Amino acid sequence: MQTTGNTILITGGTSGIGLAFAKKFLELGNTVIICGRRQDRLVQLAESYPGLVTRQCDVSNTQEREALYSWIAGTYPATNILINNAGIQLVTDLTKPVDLDRVRGEMETNFIAPLHLASLFAGHLAALSNSAIINISSGLAFVPIAFMPVYCATKAAIHSLTLSLRHQLRDTQIKVFEIAPPSVDTELGHDRREDKSQTHGGIPISEFLAEAMVAIEEDTLEAAVGMSKNLRAKREELFSVINSGF
Ligand SMILES: NC(=O)c1ccc[n+]([C@@H]2O[C@H](COP(=O)([O-])OP(=O)(O)OC[C@H]3O[C@@H](n4cnc5c(N)ncnc54)[C@H](OP(=O)(O)O)[C@@H]3O)[C@@H](O)[C@H]2O)c1
Repeated sequence: MQTTGNTILITGGTSGIGLAFAKKFLELGNTVIICGRRQDRLVQLAESYPGLVTRQCDVSNTQEREALYSWIAGTYPATNILINNAGIQLVTDLTKPVDLDRVRGEMETNFIAPLHLASLFAGHLAALSNSAIINISSGLAFVPIAFMPVYCATKAAIHSLTLSLRHQLRDTQIKVFEIAPPSVDTELGHDRREDKSQTHGGIPISEFLAEAMVAIEEDTLEAAVGMSKNLRAKREELFSVINSGF
């Protein structure tokens, strides 16, 4: 698809993959709107990147999602691309009673929010050219890492949802993408590490971004990036290997 001249809403643009997409799409001559919960980051990013539009929004909150859509439709009606990127990654021990609020929070952020936003934006996007919904899933959609069972289940659900969404929107001009990143070095999961400066251990964001942009430019609607390709191809074979140490 055409990667210039669009108006793009990216959920979770205050760090990591969302911010990398935001900078790249700005560079390519798009209007870019990012949202996130951290207002201090949004202010700082708006100062650092002239033209970047920011909006505080907690996508795990239904009313805030609806308000985001209404604000976009009223203020940036040319928005033709939605990137459902915001996500959190929690460790969940299923051998003890779980904290259901925590489980619901992860599901609301990673699964309900993209589903709800896609449904809110579908009618709006259908009327615009070069429109797209890009869902960020994960290689862990194909093979779960068992110590993060809820996270992996939300990503498997995003994979399934994207297939259905693409089918339901088949008679519109909206392209529906799924990009499944491998482990990428971002802030994801930092809150569970004692040393917050410790790296994530994944590939550099630049490496991820280069491959993801090619997929978007070439209309590869389901793009597993890097190691995620193997996870998808070898899911059953890898399940026992990936969990042997946990
Ligand atoms: N990094 C990886 O290894 C990897 C691998 C596969 C898939 N992914 C996926 O890639 C996406 C981006 O993650 P990342 O690696 O870039 O992690 P990150 O650096 O932690 O970024 C996550 C982004 O999501 C936002 N966010 C989280 N909860 C939110 C909420 N309730 N409302 C609004 N924004 C929210 C955060 O902003 P605020 O904190 O300001 O709200 C932040 O901008 C996620 O969906 C993740 O699951 C990442």
